[in-house]
Amino acid sequence: MAQVIHSIPELQQWSRAAHKAGKTVGLVPTMGFLHDGHLSLIDAARANGADAVVISIFVNPIQFGPNEDFAKYPRDFERDRALCEARNVDVIFAPGVEDMYPEPLTCHVYENTISKNLCGKSRPIHFEGVTTVVSKLFNAALPDVAVFGQKDAQQAAIIRRMVRDLNFPIKIITAPIVREADGLAMSSRNKYLSEDEHRRALAISSSLFRAQKTFAAKPGIAAAKLIADIRAEITAAGGLVEYVELTDSDTMLPAATLEPGKSFTIAVAAKFGTTRLIDNIQLG
Ligand code: PAJ
Repeated sequence: MAQVIHSIPELQQWSRAAHKAGKTVGLVPTMGFLHDGHLSLIDAARANGADAVVISIFVNPIQFGPNEDFAKYPRDFERDRALCEARNVDVIFAPGVEDMYPEPLTCHVYENTISKNLCGKSRPIHFEGVTTVVSKLFNAALPDVAVFGQKDAQQAAIIRRMVRDLNFPIKIITAPIVREADGLAMSSRNKYLSEDEHRRALAISSSLFRAQKTFAAKPGIAAAKLIADIRAEITAAGGLVEYVELTDSDTMLPAATLEPGKSFTIAVAAKFGTTRLIDNIQLG
């Protein structure tokens, strides 16, 4: 039975006891409404040595902008709990807003470089909310290992940088993107898509797969050509492209050209209807 914990001191106490018993503690931070992408992170925690796994489920208000979907973000704790039980999670950390933010914070954690690009341009406060809550979750769960998904590649890069800059003694694992059978990257927000929007949104993953294949066949191809083709395919499907950008896979900072021997990530954000989707693919 997974233990459900709501309070930070109780989770700290649990983690200290687990460490005393010689266990390696893994943390999987989520906002709930779990899907196979989230669940794969639990397996990645175990594969990376965690013998006690905490999953946190907390829809974090401070990472949503004033016109974003905080209020309507999907929530279903009982369903999430059953999925966690089936995956043998040890602890579900499900704090209330009053546990995480008993008073407005006057201290925040802020990354000032990676977070300025890509999603940071349209979501100016988002990553500060993420780095702040993830720091709080680290101090609550005291994990040895924490797992993030490559689906949110920029977020994962920012967390890797934060852990390095601020000396959190935590190993960060970035786990691969889990997709629907049709290619769409799994996301709690896919629930907002109508059937027609879902079908049209497949242009995101199909254009990225096409770019990956083209690059494998013609490594000398100009990045600008790959990017223009992705834009065109998403636009033709009725998507509103926010960005398609070539970045360095490790830092997620903009890259100008595809130099041989390095790994690049093409990151995409596009809207179908009112739903904003992100995805990315690695080249090289
Ligand atoms: P959330 O969107 O719930 O995602 C939780 C974790 O699951 C993130 O690390 C995300 O990258 C990963 N994930 C989501 N979809 C995935 C997929 N299709 N394949 C693999 N991994 C996937 O990201 C957040 O929550 C929040 O910003 C959080 C880090 C919890 C801070 O509030």
